[in-house]
Amino acid sequence: MSDYNTGLILSQIAQHATEVAAIASAKLTGFGRKNDADQAAVDAMRRSFQTAPFSGKVVIGEGEIDEAPMLYIGEELGAGGPKVDIAVDPLEGTKLCANDAPNAMTVVALAPAGGLLHAPDMYMDKLAIGPGYPAGLIDLDVSPAENVQRLAKAKGVPVSAIRACLLDRDRHKHIIEELRSIGAGIRLIPDGDVAGVFWTTEAARSGVDIYFGSGGAPEGVLAAAAIRCAGGQMQARLKPENEQEEQRARAMGRDVHKKLTLDDMAPGHVVFAASGVTHGSMFEGVQFENGTAHVDTLVWDTFTGRRSRVRSVYPHK
Ligand code: FBP
Repeated sequence: MSDYNTGLILSQIAQHATEVAAIASAKLTGFGRKNDADQAAVDAMRRSFQTAPFSGKVVIGEGEIDEAPMLYIGEELGAGGPKVDIAVDPLEGTKLCANDAPNAMTVVALAPAGGLLHAPDMYMDKLAIGPGYPAGLIDLDVSPAENVQRLAKAKGVPVSAIRACLLDRDRHKHIIEELRSIGAGIRLIPDGDVAGVFWTTEAARSGVDIYFGSGGAPEGVLAAAAIRCAGGQMQARLKPENEQEEQRARAMGRDVHKKLTLDDMAPGHVVFAASGVTHGSMFEGVQFENGTAHVDTLVWDTFTGRRSRVRSVYPHK
């Protein structure tokens, strides 16, 4: 099958998986039951993948086999066909969904086998910008201030016109202080750093130019897939918090000191899909009306170069 057709088929599979998961979890928005909402998304996404025309293997999932009953790393899914790596975050922003807060979403990346980094479930430092800048502009090993100053210069704007996005966490205080000291704008988000990263790919629309800070490594690989599709830049580094995590990373073949680039995280062709669960800056969020569910999805792929924004309507009881 041509790359083009592979891209079209994988895009359809990814879109369906994120949409049914979004509808399933959206029924649980605002009830304070983040685990139930997550489980609903997992179940729906798994059912979708089970009948997909591929031989899929979960490389980024809900955890290891002994700690996650479904969509665990290594789980095989699909009805047979080409070998595909599956990366999922069935409900990104479980608390956002439980609190009916903005930007909860469902996320999937698919790639031919070997096309997505197998990342352990631990923290990762992340740095990302959108497309249109000279290669190598940002660097995880220079200060946040230096990265923002480089970006402002390349964009031809003052530093005050650059907006950085970070998770609102104590561990990011030093970055926030440094960015404030040079006069950059900051968007602090309560959760959901996949969105934080992919907002940089549509800076004019989202208002976010650069993403900083640490969050989940699985979310980092999913975000890298989005950046791969949109043509931006991203660097990351695993951040094990103890000896045990370091050993787990090594057992997966990861060098914890390595500065990871897009070529490490999403080296080749890839599909990225995300559907809105709650309303947010990129999505409407699922709406139920007259026996139907309306859901907004981004489906991006490098096979065809297409970046779609789709609103789908499903019959819904
Ligand atoms: P969940 O959907 O699993 O709750 O994750 C939300 C999230 O904000 C991610 O987007 C982010 O990578 C991670 O949690 C950050 O972790 P922490 O809350 O420990 O800072």
